[in-house]
Amino acid sequence: MPVKTICWANNSIKIIDQRKLPGELKYIYCRDLKTIWDAIKTLAVRGAPALGVAAAFGVLLGVSKSKERNTSKFIKEIESVCDYIGTSRPTAVNLFNALNDIRKLVRENKDKSVIELKKLIRKCAFQIYEHDRKVCREMGKFGAKFIDNKKNYMTVCNAGSLATVDFGTALGVFYTAQKNKREFKVYSCETRPLLQGARLTAWELKKSKIDVTLICDNMAASLMRKIKISGIFTGADRIASNGDTANKIGTYNLAVLAKHHKIPFYVVAPFSTFDLNIDNGKQIPIEERKSDEITQIKGINIAPKGIKVYNPAFDVTDHNLITAIITERGVISPVNKQNIKKIFSCYA
Ligand code: MRU
Repeated sequence: MPVKTICWANNSIKIIDQRKLPGELKYIYCRDLKTIWDAIKTLAVRGAPALGVAAAFGVLLGVSKSKERNTSKFIKEIESVCDYIGTSRPTAVNLFNALNDIRKLVRENKDKSVIELKKLIRKCAFQIYEHDRKVCREMGKFGAKFIDNKKNYMTVCNAGSLATVDFGTALGVFYTAQKNKREFKVYSCETRPLLQGARLTAWELKKSKIDVTLICDNMAASLMRKIKISGIFTGADRIASNGDTANKIGTYNLAVLAKHHKIPFYVVAPFSTFDLNIDNGKQIPIEERKSDEITQIKGINIAPKGIKVYNPAFDVTDHNLITAIITERGVISPVNKQNIKKIFSCYA
């Protein structure tokens, strides 16, 4: 079964240190704000839904030890903790949605005492955590309908239990299909530069006894020509109002290849990954990361010293390349502004 990636334990945030996988399954206890900020920045904890939970627990961690007794000064502290966590990584909107949930809660309860506000923040953080567990299982049920017996599927990066509390979005679809006794194969793209596909997806699918085969990213096209791939399943970091979707760098390549090879391309993401404040993917902030993630492997240089590097962590897939977005409330297809608006107006 999938693993538990993040939880609240004895006044600390307990996370799997994903930088150490697959070699070592090691846990870190974040007991202060700086430690959880660093864990987010350095990808010890990662994946959009897990980042939402990490942000919520991060605020809880940051404010629970406050000695402040004056409510308005305490609210200022909460605001600055939220601002600080918001500087960790820019693309996954789940992180900002969690911070905004807490900000809104505090605004609506600005007359309460410090103790009451602390209790409300705690309750809200736990709700975000439980909600993730629930919606991943709902998405799994909707998505598993697209998995057939004896077929081949592909995924990129890690949208599994390691990217959520404990079940996954895209990989949650595979776990549900497995539970429904489907037999199928998954090809995991390694996902350069940080190898989330090789280190994390291959690890968790193998551990869960799903038939997984690892490929280098540049092997996807030739594999699509050689065998029939019946669907590509990915997660998302931010989905704009029109369905344009930011996900791990390389996702857009796969979507273009999928169109050429007539392979359905599915994005599996909860409502908390939508950013309805932006019209399209051009407005999604894309994180650029340090050059040594490309020029070095485990500290060893693999490129000339001083070489110029371009290292965006995400790309944007146009909505018209996406066959369907699988959410906790159902499947959006065709992917367009009207259909997204419709599902949100029914349920949000
Ligand atoms: O840089 P990462 O590892 O945080 O990127 C994660 C991804 O791109 C995932 O595919 C995405 O967050 C969806 S996770 C369910």
